[in-house]
Amino acid sequence: MSTTVSTVHAAITAAVRAPSPFNTQPWLFAAHPDRVDLWLDRSRVMTVTDPDAHEARVGCGAALHTLRLALAVSGHRTEVHMLPDRARPDLLATAVLDGKYRPTPHERALSEAVWRRHTNRRPFLDRPVPSPAKTALMRAATVEGAQLHLMDQPAEVGAVADLVRRADHVLGQDLAHVDEVRAWIGHQGRSDGIPVTASGRPSTPDTLIVLRELGSSAPAVPFERLPLLGVLTTVGDTHSDHLAAGQALQAVLLEACVAGLAVSPLSQPIEVPATRDALGLLVGAAAHLVLRIGYGHPGVTTPRRPVSEVVLD
Ligand SMILES: Cc1cc2nc3c(=O)[nH]c(=O)nc-3n(C[C@H](O)[C@H](O)[C@H](O)COP(=O)(O)O)c2cc1C
Repeated sequence: MSTTVSTVHAAITAAVRAPSPFNTQPWLFAAHPDRVDLWLDRSRVMTVTDPDAHEARVGCGAALHTLRLALAVSGHRTEVHMLPDRARPDLLATAVLDGKYRPTPHERALSEAVWRRHTNRRPFLDRPVPSPAKTALMRAATVEGAQLHLMDQPAEVGAVADLVRRADHVLGQDLAHVDEVRAWIGHQGRSDGIPVTASGRPSTPDTLIVLRELGSSAPAVPFERLPLLGVLTTVGDTHSDHLAAGQALQAVLLEACVAGLAVSPLSQPIEVPATRDALGLLVGAAAHLVLRIGYGHPGVTTPRRPVSEVVLD
């Protein structure tokens, strides 16, 4: 393998560590000598839960951010063209290798965090997140063209918690959604989906934030009383905004990981139009995801498909 080919291969190996809805990994890459194309893999979009592929695009944006970071840390500057071909809307982005780059120590730390970052569905400690860490998370989102609205006051956290609960209830009544989710959870030995080991613990009824039911049969435990919540938003709501939100998501998650913080995304309110609208009104922008953020005991990383399965010939 020539240096560039092996560098691109290594960057794709990092990119697939990105988060995606239910670990569906809805991406494909085409590696060229001087560029990498990122495609939406339609066959992996959850058509009931995510009919317009909004969440899949957010996951692909997270993979794009990770790809850029890995290339930067290996000394390559990239120029990214978002949605470069109107005739092919599933070609989400092209990252052109565009000369040499000298990474910063912080970028190196973020790229190391790619391998240990994971969704943590366990209860967090009742320990507040300090202001400098909050500022770093918000800045990470802003740099990628999105915003992270942080909330830690009981009234606003309660308002978002209400929307999460309402959406979770609506989704629980939708048998097609429940069936679709079942295909992606609780498996073992697969390279996609959410394995039982990562499904967390059910929460006791007094818990403010309703996490998704992911098939854990463990006894319920109490969760933190008042979590720090973040709502990831963009001003617009186009496909390009969904990709920006995804890039910001991974930037925030890696920053959180470096700061020793645990995060679990909650997308129930995004999947029900009425609660998504209400969440958008609450924060005054297009909402893409809710994040529960705090200090916690580590969870586990989840498997990924090998690079050979996500690279187009
Ligand atoms: C757009 C999006 C929505 C998500 N929604 C949820 C959610 O509602 N509940 C949850 O527990 N995890 C959610 N996740 C986290 C994924 O399940 C997780 O990223 C995936 O299973 C891979 O695991 P990892 O993050 O530990 O690498 C979401 C992730 C993305 C990108």
